[in-house]
Amino acid sequence: MGEMEAPTLAGMNMTTAEGAAVKVTVTFQPVGRSFKVARGDVLFNVAAECGVEVDTVCGGNGSCGKCKVQFQDFTPAPTPLDYVHLTAGEIARGVRLACQVAADRDMVVQVPAAGARSGVRILHHGVTRDIELRPNIRKVFVPYENPRLREHVSDWDRLRLVLPRKLRPVDISLRVLRKLPGLVRNPAGLTMVLTGRRVIELEPGNTAGEQYGVAFDVGSTTIVGFLMDLATGAEAAVASAVNRQSAYGDDIIGRLSRSQRNPEGLGKLHEMVIEQLNGLIADLASRAGIPADRIYEVTVVGNMAMHHFLLQLDSTYLGLAPYAPVIREEYVVNAADIGLSIRPEAPVFVLPNIAGFVGSDTVGVMLASDLGAGAEYRMAIDVGTNGEMALANRERLIACSAPAGPALEGARIRMGMRAAPGAIDHVRIGSDVEITVIGGLPPVGICGSALIDIVAQLRKAGLMNRSGAFLRKSELPPDTPPRLRERLIEAGQRKHTYFILARAQDAGGETDVVITQQDIRECQLAKGAIRAGAMLLLQEMGITENDLAEVQLAGAFGNFLDPESALRAGLTPNVPLDRIRSVGNAAGVGAKLALLSVQERKRAIRIAQRTEHIQLSGSAAFQKAFTVAMQFPT
Ligand code: FES
Repeated sequence: MGEMEAPTLAGMNMTTAEGAAVKVTVTFQPVGRSFKVARGDVLFNVAAECGVEVDTVCGGNGSCGKCKVQFQDFTPAPTPLDYVHLTAGEIARGVRLACQVAADRDMVVQVPAAGARSGVRILHHGVTRDIELRPNIRKVFVPYENPRLREHVSDWDRLRLVLPRKLRPVDISLRVLRKLPGLVRNPAGLTMVLTGRRVIELEPGNTAGEQYGVAFDVGSTTIVGFLMDLATGAEAAVASAVNRQSAYGDDIIGRLSRSQRNPEGLGKLHEMVIEQLNGLIADLASRAGIPADRIYEVTVVGNMAMHHFLLQLDSTYLGLAPYAPVIREEYVVNAADIGLSIRPEAPVFVLPNIAGFVGSDTVGVMLASDLGAGAEYRMAIDVGTNGEMALANRERLIACSAPAGPALEGARIRMGMRAAPGAIDHVRIGSDVEITVIGGLPPVGICGSALIDIVAQLRKAGLMNRSGAFLRKSELPPDTPPRLRERLIEAGQRKHTYFILARAQDAGGETDVVITQQDIRECQLAKGAIRAGAMLLLQEMGITENDLAEVQLAGAFGNFLDPESALRAGLTPNVPLDRIRSVGNAAGVGAKLALLSVQERKRAIRIAQRTEHIQLSGSAAFQKAFTVAMQFPT
C-alpha cells in the first residue's frame, strides 16, 4: 500500500486557468478498465458513469456503507463516514467508501466481487395458467402473383385483397410502403406482419412461422426478459440483468429525486433502461438462435417510477403528494420512438398502472394469479422497498403500497447485503444456529429472507420478546441451549446487544456475522409497514384474516421467503400456513400473458380500471395499524 493522503472534498471539479476540466485516469480492477474523468468527481459517480458496478443501496448518500473499494496505489485519508461504516482492519487495508472519495489524481481501485450487483439472485419463473394463444401480431404469407393478371390493381390493393374483407389491412407506414413495389414482385412471395389492421413490416419470402415477442418485467433491482414464440406460445429464452439504475440506489425515491434535481437525470435514467433492454433483446435472440428482427412486439410491466423512466415522462410529481403519475392507462408506443432495437414500428405495449406507487407490475401479478376471478378473497403481496399488495374477489379489487424501506434489501442492516453469493439466506435456530449461504460460500452478510428467518427464529427460541428486544442473558429461560447463550453478546446497554450467526473463523472474514438490536428494529419497521398495509386492505374490504382463502407472496423476495418465517415474524396476515403460497415472478408472467393473448391484455386493462387504490400515506388508520404491526405475534 502506498502513502496516505489528505482527503479532497468529493464532488469538487478542478478546472485549468482556461476553464477546461482537468482530467485524471481512474483504473478499476479486476476488470482492468481505465477512464479519463474530470478531476474532483466523486469516485462513486465516476464508476456509475463508466458502467462499473460498485455495490450500493443508498445511491451514494453515505448511509448504506456498501460502496467499498480498495485503493491499490495510494490511500486517501479516511473520512468520518469511513469510520462509521468500515472496520479498523478495512481502513488499514485501504478500503474506502467510493461515495466519499474524490477522483482527484490518477488512481487504481479494486472493486470487490463479493456483493457486486452482477451476482444478485434473479427470479425467472412464476405461476402459470392456461390461456388461448391469440397474439396481437399476425403474419400472413402473400404468394407471388403475375402482375399482368391484375394490371389495374395497385400494389397496396393487391396486398389487401389477399385477406377477407374484415381482416384487410387499412394502414401501412410510409417506410414500409416504400418497400412494397419490390417485394410484391418477388417471385418467392412476401410476408406481411400485422398488428390489428396495420401493416408494420413486409418481408421477402414466407416467414410466417417465425414470429417472436419479448415480455419484460422491469423491476427497480432487476430486469427480466422472456422471449416468447408467438406461433406456439412457448418460451424460447430468458435473460436477466441487475438494473443498472441500482447504481443510483435501491430506493426508488432516490432515483426520482435524481431525475427531479438534475435536468439530465431523467434522460440518463431512460437511456440506462433502454440500453439494458436492448442488451437483453440481443442476448435473448442469440440464446434462441434467431435474428432480433424476428421480434415484432414487446410488453412491459414495471413499477410506476420505472414506467416513467422507460417512457421518459417527467416524474417530478410522482415523488410529491398526491403522487400523480403522468398517465395510468396502458400505453402503446413504437419501438423506434423509445430507442428499442427491433423493427421500428413494432409496438411496445406498456401495461396499465393502478395509482400512487402501485404500478403495472402489480397488475401483472393480479393477472397472472387471477386474483379477482372467484368468490373467495385472495391477497397478493410483493415484498420490496415498497410493499405493493392487492386484495380481491370477483366483486371488488383494492390495492395499496406500503413504505417498507430498504431494510429487506440489506440497507441499514449492519451486515445486510443483497441476495448475492456469500449472503446468508436462511437461518434455523435449534440447539445451535444453522445457516445456508447463497453460492455455498463462506458467509459475509445477511440478505432479506434471512432477516425474516432470524427474527422468527429468535422469537421461537425465546431469545427475543414480543416487542423485538433481545432478552438479557439473566432473563433467558433456564433450558436455553448453552451454544445459543454463548452467541448472545451483551455489550453495555441492551441496545448494543447482538447475536452471532457465524463466527469469523467460519465466516472466512475478519469479523463475526451478527444481527444487532438495531437491525431488528429496522426489520420491524419493514415488516410492520407491510403487515399494516395488509390489515388496512382487510379493514377496507370489511373482512378479517379468517376470510382470506390465500395469501400469495410475489416477486423475488417473496419467493425466497420462508412462508413459516413470514407468518411467525408477523409480516403476513395471520392465516393457516397452508394458505400462504409463493407465486414467483408473477409480474413477469403477467407481461407474458399480455404478449401471448389480446384477451389477457384486455383483462389487464379491466383489472387496472377496476382496482381501487387505497392511499396509505398520511392515513391515521395506517399509523395506528403500523404501531401494532411492529410487535411480533405471541
Ligand atoms: Fe456509499 Fe451507500 S454509503 S453508496
